[in-house]
Amino acid sequence: MALRTTDTLPDAPAAAPTEAPAPLVDRHGRVHTDLRISLTDRCNLRCTYCMPAEGLDWLPRDQALTDAELLRLARIAVHRLGIRTLRLTGGEPLLRRGLPDLVARLAALGPELSLTTNGIGLARRATELKQAGLHRVNVSLDTLRPERYAALTRRDRLADVLAGLAAAKDAGLAPVKVNAVPVRGVNEDELVDLVEFAVDGGYRMRFIESMPLDAQGAWDRAAMVTADEILAALATRWTLLPVGRHDNAPAEEWRLSGTDHVVGVIASVTRPFCGGCDRVRLTADGQLRNCLFATEESDLRALLRTGADDDRIERAWRACVSRKGPGHRIGDTDFVRPDRPMSAIGG
Ligand code: 5AD
Ligand code: SF4
Repeated sequence: MALRTTDTLPDAPAAAPTEAPAPLVDRHGRVHTDLRISLTDRCNLRCTYCMPAEGLDWLPRDQALTDAELLRLARIAVHRLGIRTLRLTGGEPLLRRGLPDLVARLAALGPELSLTTNGIGLARRATELKQAGLHRVNVSLDTLRPERYAALTRRDRLADVLAGLAAAKDAGLAPVKVNAVPVRGVNEDELVDLVEFAVDGGYRMRFIESMPLDAQGAWDRAAMVTADEILAALATRWTLLPVGRHDNAPAEEWRLSGTDHVVGVIASVTRPFCGGCDRVRLTADGQLRNCLFATEESDLRALLRTGADDDRIERAWRACVSRKGPGHRIGDTDFVRPDRPMSAIGG
């Protein structure tokens, strides 16, 4: 495997601006304050709803942003564009080499910093990441049954994920959220069990409707378990009290009556929340996307590698966001899937 070239990192980050940056706004008036950065398209699981058993053609390493390039874009985002929250995603972001150092440098920019992981290897990294400045983690876990986990992810690693969750909580990466994608005929009978597991473990459970973002193009609306079905399943066990949505968060929340536990449902397909979207995404190869479902990208890596100054990058970034469409239009007859899968975009 080729060694990653060592980045030359600046000793001191450029000073934060004294004035608040102009908002990163699109032509529908939505202000963008959340940046999701995919650190790698690689993954050590092969979830059936995400990618084929043999994996994908991973990005050649020279196409991925180096730490120095990524930090420069993050600095522009925070200092010049008003980004306040950064989420690190993948593929599987824990596979990125030198992650604690990168986390420390991103944290030094001052945003709220979180990470979405499948939890493999989190047990031995959680404390180090917390010390580096990471605030929170979301851990993907679709089933609590070892054999089912092995079939769904094609890897027998449930114990690692459970250890990772416990370690994240112990390290204070709170609130630790558990993300599950219910799939019909696979794990839809486990929704109550997953919530009970989260209540007992002190985690926050969230269910995500499956989206047409798998690499195989096999997504099937009929196999998607809808928000209504998720809520109906939970209502067999608890009375659900609507809490609503925090700011522009994708999850709508319900409190389980008689407890202080809150369950989130991310209903991207049946209850789209595009009208309040405040997110913009950067892929591991330096392409800016104004939507998970965007069919065009803005090539920031090319700008970085041809000597563009910060003003030029800021303009390209604002132009990309300004072109953002009003919504994803899944379900419309002319819906076009993005040409990259979720694992290459970042969740
Ligand atoms: N639809 C919905 N969620 C998905 N995830 C991965 N692929 C899909 C999909 N096609 C989930 C992962 C993880 C989060 C980042 O997104 O399970 O929890
Ligand atoms: Fe990996 Fe996440 Fe895709 Fe599963 S859903 S294969 S954990 S990128």
